[in-house]
Amino acid sequence: MTETEAKKEIAKLTEELREYNYNYYVLSKSLISDYDFDIKLKELEKLESKFPGLRQAGSPTRRVGGEPSKDFASVKHKYPMLSLSNSYSEQDIRDFDQRVRKVVGDEVEYVCELKYDGVAIGLRYEKGVLAQAVTRGDGNQGDDVTNNVKTIKSIPLKLRGDYPAELEIRGEIFFPLKDFERINKERLENGEQTFANPRNSASGTLKMQDPKEVAHRNLDCFLYYFPISYNNVETHYEAMQYAASLGFKVSKNMALCKNIDEIFEFINDWETGRHGLPYEIDGIVIKVNQLKMQQQLAFTAKSPRWAIAYKFKAERAETKLESVGFQVGRTGAVTPVANLSPVQLAGTTVKRASLHNADIINKLDLHYNDYVYVEKGGEIIPKIVGINKSKRDPRADKVSFALVCPECGSGLVRTEGESAFYCPNQDNCPPQIKGKLEHFISRKAMNIDSLGEGKVEMLYDNGLLGNVADLYKLDYDSLIGLEKVIPATEEKKEKKLSLRDKSVRNILSGLENSKKLGFEKVLFALGIRHIGETVAKKLAARFKSIDKLKDASIEQLTELEDIGDKIAISLSEWFKDPKHQTIIEELKKSGLDFEIHEEDNINKTNKLEGKSFVVSGVFEQFSRNEIKQLIEENGGKNIGSVSAKTNYLLAGANMGPAKLAKAEKLGVRIISEEEFRKMIDY
Ligand code: IVH
Repeated sequence: MTETEAKKEIAKLTEELREYNYNYYVLSKSLISDYDFDIKLKELEKLESKFPGLRQAGSPTRRVGGEPSKDFASVKHKYPMLSLSNSYSEQDIRDFDQRVRKVVGDEVEYVCELKYDGVAIGLRYEKGVLAQAVTRGDGNQGDDVTNNVKTIKSIPLKLRGDYPAELEIRGEIFFPLKDFERINKERLENGEQTFANPRNSASGTLKMQDPKEVAHRNLDCFLYYFPISYNNVETHYEAMQYAASLGFKVSKNMALCKNIDEIFEFINDWETGRHGLPYEIDGIVIKVNQLKMQQQLAFTAKSPRWAIAYKFKAERAETKLESVGFQVGRTGAVTPVANLSPVQLAGTTVKRASLHNADIINKLDLHYNDYVYVEKGGEIIPKIVGINKSKRDPRADKVSFALVCPECGSGLVRTEGESAFYCPNQDNCPPQIKGKLEHFISRKAMNIDSLGEGKVEMLYDNGLLGNVADLYKLDYDSLIGLEKVIPATEEKKEKKLSLRDKSVRNILSGLENSKKLGFEKVLFALGIRHIGETVAKKLAARFKSIDKLKDASIEQLTELEDIGDKIAISLSEWFKDPKHQTIIEELKKSGLDFEIHEEDNINKTNKLEGKSFVVSGVFEQFSRNEIKQLIEENGGKNIGSVSAKTNYLLAGANMGPAKLAKAEKLGVRIISEEEFRKMIDY
């Protein structure tokens, strides 16, 4: 392809992908399948890497581009990011309306909007391209979280329509409830502590080091305010329409209100309506619509006089704590659950509340038989937010965390620095065995859906399964005899037997098919604490086989990006247990794959065989990870620090001077990204 052709093709793909993104994430319209979208995105990525000079600013390939960042630079806001004054009563709103009318007269109109419970963000666009995203901070300066914000698909990287050369817009980043629940489910499966509420975890997510993890969480963003008037708009309502025309996600749930009654109507509608929203709101914002009047009203030091927030009272109920139960999860993490006297809350009957962990029980100072306040947040299970101490029985004992596992009686343990208690009896505690079996057969792991959770439980209860290796010892005879057939008639008996025959054959073929899955799936399926899907993939790609992974030192493990001490220690502890060695040996015998095969890797060559590389600095064509991957795919080895044995120092921009000096001193060859590409003919 010539450069001119490439330019045309890049422009076409960029535009198309931008349209698909905008339609999907802002307008909720799906115009293309995920698969076709990915193909187009890959095509564009390929062209851009072949012709890096032709990549457009704000290209759709740049959403998860940035390298992990340790610090977030502090940035001064051009226009201060103010807060809103709060109100909790009808009277407060009436007073606000009176104050406003006194200054600007009775022509005033209001816009009522939802008050999103998230994290405020300021976006700056230069020539239509997202240049910087900054948190509120103290209102005068905040943190630059641009790389993480770029992963939010509803935020345009490039504006549409008629945009000014420079533009600032404000909005709220939030965690959609279904994604919040998805992430918590994943965390639970990985043996990690679940997040307590969507707002705090959205805020924590924005400060994460790895934009890939941020992208995985699927944050979203509504825009609601321009600090200055663009496009000569005269009202806030028009400003929001203009924002929508630029490609921003602007809520449709806003109303133009002419008087206080219309404001209350909006408030009352959402007081109940909010429970049906796919995200959390904590109130309503009322803004003067006419920008001229906003200017007349101006600001106090902290907030505009032209707007007010009406905060909903959190729906809360008081009820009695009947008992505290302890549940043991797949990974052995023990979760306390409060059993309550049933009480009505936000339209449902609440009987249980999550207590999360021992720290929360202590912080609440929870006693048996206490009368507690429960609130409904983003989660399905409500939480205890306080205690009515005036009703406490003075003789009541403090709630203490279980000392032994309620399922198997083992003493519970707590890892330093973690809030969760674990049952250490990984291989003999019934819910942990069942949980591990269920995880092993699950869709994301070995995908043996012909088995299913119910059947696994039955097989376990019948003594046919003690661990995951036993799955592959199941045969036709052991499975077919499981349920007793109680024949009503001969005909029905025949039918039942034939159905069972089919189901058993399905299970066996499901098990057989699972043997074709790659090492990374098997590794994930083993259900080692803290080894989620992504980590399993990384470990498999780096260490290539279970034997090499087993022999890896903590240092070698933590050299990998995203693998910290917690994961490394969990792995090495797991491998130390002889029972786990036996499981691996048995699974190997059954034909499961415990290594990455050379032929799986199409890029693979031997060009770098026997050569060791230290990669340092920032590169133009590839991310550091991509470079490391290329080194390995071509037979080379990545090492962490320069020594006399190092063959090459692959030096990018901004690399540490100490490394460079050491390489020079030891005579290690220093090569550029370009030279590296030539070495592997890329
Ligand atoms: S307007 C100058 N509109 O609530 C005023 N804020 O408690 C700009 N918020 O700092 C803010 N939804 O983070 C505005 N529809 C909305 C909002 C909203 C949520 C947040 C925002 C603000 C905080 C005040």
